[in-house]
Amino acid sequence: MNVEEFKSIFFWEWGHRVLGRLAGIGFVLPLVYFAARKRLSASLPRHLAAMALLFAGQGFMGWYMVKSGLEDSLLETPGAVPRVSHYRLASHLCLAFLLYAGMFSTGISTLMDWRFAHKGTWSGITGGEAAISNVLTNPIVRKFLTRSRLLCGLVFITAMSGALVAGLDAGLLYNEFPLMGGRLAPPADELFSPDFAKKPDGSDLWWRNILENPTTVQFDHRCLAIGTYIATTALWMSGRNPVVRAALPPLTRSLLTGAFAMANIQVLLGISTLLYLVPVPLAAGHQAGSVALFTMLLHILVSLRRPGAAARVWQQAMKARAATVAARKL
Ligand code: HEM
Repeated sequence: MNVEEFKSIFFWEWGHRVLGRLAGIGFVLPLVYFAARKRLSASLPRHLAAMALLFAGQGFMGWYMVKSGLEDSLLETPGAVPRVSHYRLASHLCLAFLLYAGMFSTGISTLMDWRFAHKGTWSGITGGEAAISNVLTNPIVRKFLTRSRLLCGLVFITAMSGALVAGLDAGLLYNEFPLMGGRLAPPADELFSPDFAKKPDGSDLWWRNILENPTTVQFDHRCLAIGTYIATTALWMSGRNPVVRAALPPLTRSLLTGAFAMANIQVLLGISTLLYLVPVPLAAGHQAGSVALFTMLLHILVSLRRPGAAARVWQQAMKARAATVAARKL
C-alpha cells in the first residue's frame, strides 16, 4: 500500500471512529438529561439504558474486530494482507442491527403513542382503544404478525450471512447469477472441502465450510437471499387477499407494499454487486438496502403493537390540563 492509499483508508477508519463516538455521546447525554429531569415514561429508561450498554458493547466489538487484523504474524509473512476476522466483522454488524432495531422501534413506538394521545389515530385506525383491540385481536392479523416476525428474523439472518460474504471477500468468486460455474450449485466437494476442516477426524467439516469456505458462504447467502425474497413476496401476496387486506390497519398495508418493493431493489443491488465485482458504491448501497428492508419489517411489527404506557400517561396529562383550563374559565 502506498502513502496515498494509506491516507484514504485511514480517513475512512478515522471518520468511522469519530462518527461512532459522536453517535454514542449524542445518545447518552440527552438520555442522562431527560432521565435526570424525570421526562421519560415508565418503560423507557430500561430500554434506553440497555441500548446505551449495547453502544458501549459496539465500541468494544469495533476495537476487538480491528485488533484481529493486527496480528504480529502478518508482519513476519512476506506479502500477507492484514484482514479482520470475518466472525468479528459479522458480530459488529449484528450489534449494529440490534442497536438500530432497538432505537428505531422505541422511537417509532413513542411517536405513535404521542400521535394516538393527541390525534386519536393508531396505524391509520380511528375509534379509540376498542377499535384498535378489535383489529389487533383478529386471528388473521395475529397470523400475519407471526409471519412478519419470522420474516424479520430471516432478513436479519440473511444480512448476517452477507457480512460473512463481505468479510471473506467471497463476492469476488463466481461473479454470475443465477448460476455458479455454469451450475445451480457448485460441486459438493467444493462446497464441503476437507481443506477447511481443522480436526483430524473431520468432525468440523460441515460447520467450518458453511461459515469459512468463501464458495459455501456465498452459496449460503444466495440461498438465504432467495428464501427472503420468496417469503417477502408470499407475505405481500397474502396481504393482497381481500379478507386479509380488510383486516390489516392501513399503515401496515402501505408498509407491506414498501417491504416488497425494497426486497426487489435489494436483490437487484445484490446481483449487481456480484456481477460488477463488488465496487464500493454498489456494495455500500446493498448494505444500506438491507437496513431499509429490515426497517420496513420492524415498522410493520410496530404498526401491529398496542398503544403503550406513554400514550395513557399523555392522555391523562391532556385531560388534567383540559380540566384545569375549564376550571380557570369558571
Ligand atoms: C434480501 C436479500 C439480501 C439481503 C438482506 C442482503 C444483505 C447483505 C448484507 C447485510 C451484506 C453485508 C454488507 C457489508 O457488510 O458490507 C451483503 C453482502 C453481499 N451480498 Fe447480499 N443481501 C441480499 C441479497 C443478495 C443477493 C441476491 C446477492 C447476489 C446473488 C447478494 C450478494 C452479496 C454480495 C456479493 C455481498 C458482499 C459485498 C461486499 O463484499 O462488500 N446479496 N448482503
